[in-house]
Amino acid sequence: MAKTIVELGRPGRRGFRISREPMNVAVDVPEEYLRSEPPRLPEVSEPGVVRHFIELSILNHHVDKNLYPLGSCTMKYNPKMNEDVASMESFTGLHPEQSDADVQGALEVIYTLQKKLSAITGMDEFSLNTAAGAHGELLGMLIAKKYFDDRNERRTKVLVADSAHGTNPASAHMVGFHNKAIPSAANGQVDLSILDRSLDDDTAVLMLTVPNTLGIFESRIGEIIELAHKRGVLCYMDGANLNALLGRVRPGDMGFDIIHINLHKTFSTPHGGGGPGSGPVGVRKELAPYLPVPRVTRDGGMFCLDHDSTDSVGVIHSFYGNFGIYLRALAYIVRHGADGLRRVSGTANLNANYLAQALSETFPIPYGKRCMHEFVASGERFKRYGVRTLDIAKRLLDFGFHAPTIYFPMVFPEALMIEPTETESKETLDEFVAVMKRIAQEAVEDPELLTSAPRNTPVRRLDEVTANRNPVLTAPIDEP
Ligand SMILES: Cc1ncc(COP(=O)(O)O)c(C=O)c1O
Repeated sequence: MAKTIVELGRPGRRGFRISREPMNVAVDVPEEYLRSEPPRLPEVSEPGVVRHFIELSILNHHVDKNLYPLGSCTMKYNPKMNEDVASMESFTGLHPEQSDADVQGALEVIYTLQKKLSAITGMDEFSLNTAAGAHGELLGMLIAKKYFDDRNERRTKVLVADSAHGTNPASAHMVGFHNKAIPSAANGQVDLSILDRSLDDDTAVLMLTVPNTLGIFESRIGEIIELAHKRGVLCYMDGANLNALLGRVRPGDMGFDIIHINLHKTFSTPHGGGGPGSGPVGVRKELAPYLPVPRVTRDGGMFCLDHDSTDSVGVIHSFYGNFGIYLRALAYIVRHGADGLRRVSGTANLNANYLAQALSETFPIPYGKRCMHEFVASGERFKRYGVRTLDIAKRLLDFGFHAPTIYFPMVFPEALMIEPTETESKETLDEFVAVMKRIAQEAVEDPELLTSAPRNTPVRRLDEVTANRNPVLTAPIDEP
């Protein structure tokens, strides 16, 4: 075996220091794996590479380019400072198999983020190990299942509000629970009398998205949780919409037993094509033993990985989850501080209400114009001109905006779910309003402009079904 000198980034003390000096480490690499000649990499100039990627980024829509009002996704600007922190060599040079003593800084990051999330949400303990919001829900359901199994209670049902995010019933189903939908009342909130009738000894969990997917806060949340707890039911909050609540109200104080949040929504980490993300799960202390392993704990001045929690639901992700995401989220939290985070939710809610007020005459909002971080408008009145919400969304692309979420939530037809986030200026919101109003006028005067949209994008209107079932990923771009 040959001894080869490999250059690794030098882990800084506690992982926080950047070192530009490479660390030379002798590594045993079997001879047959060593190159006899340098790799043949294509020779391309730096400007060539830069232009290639800039060109690709122009073809695509992204949050650095313009407003991305995709409801329920919180497509806020991702500060570049996050990327600086996540690319520090003292972190990127670490290996997950290093000993705890070697990676104290990285463990401190995980531990600190867990504690910050507890302070923000009022939940006693957190696990960061899951890779997405829906993965957090799955973990939450596994915890609930184990909790009832340990108590020898055979509860099989999960109650899910019909305004909950679509992943909620799917996650409950994956763990073997049966779902029962609780319809919304006329004000878009849980119908308490139906909830009361539906809670029984077979109910394991009540799952609520707060604020719900209509952008409405459950004003009777205290009563709802009390009703559920009286029947021994665990209350789960889909906290992916925490952006609306930061610094104002905490799920733990409301009485929730289990929550998940989405770091890639509230805490400005990239959504990146479905991942890698992070959907941390917070629980009250009685449920903490069920959290997945490994757990990052603190023993005096040392941070440790606990792999042996006997009641744990087990391993949910390789190693400790998506560490780079934690760095970005922690950077964002520390940079904002408590006051800054409170301003985030205030501005997110203000921006959504500003848009709702400005658009509601043209696009009616069936559940009222007052909302939290997002609202759901209806495009139904344009159907009489042969225009559907899908066409309105497509036409928006021609004006350089991303489309809102459409046909969701499914509580009324032709829905347009709009979430501007706090990172948009009044000028951008005004431009969006002007474009939406222009599109509404076009729908009446020249519907074909909408039904054939988009016309100015690199790829024109697709047959959505075929595109999904039979994606052609190398198709040439349409000529303008
Ligand atoms: C309210 C809500 N819950 C759950 C999820 C699922 O999260 P993920 O897409 O990370 O699985 C989302 C995603 O946007 C969401 O908005």
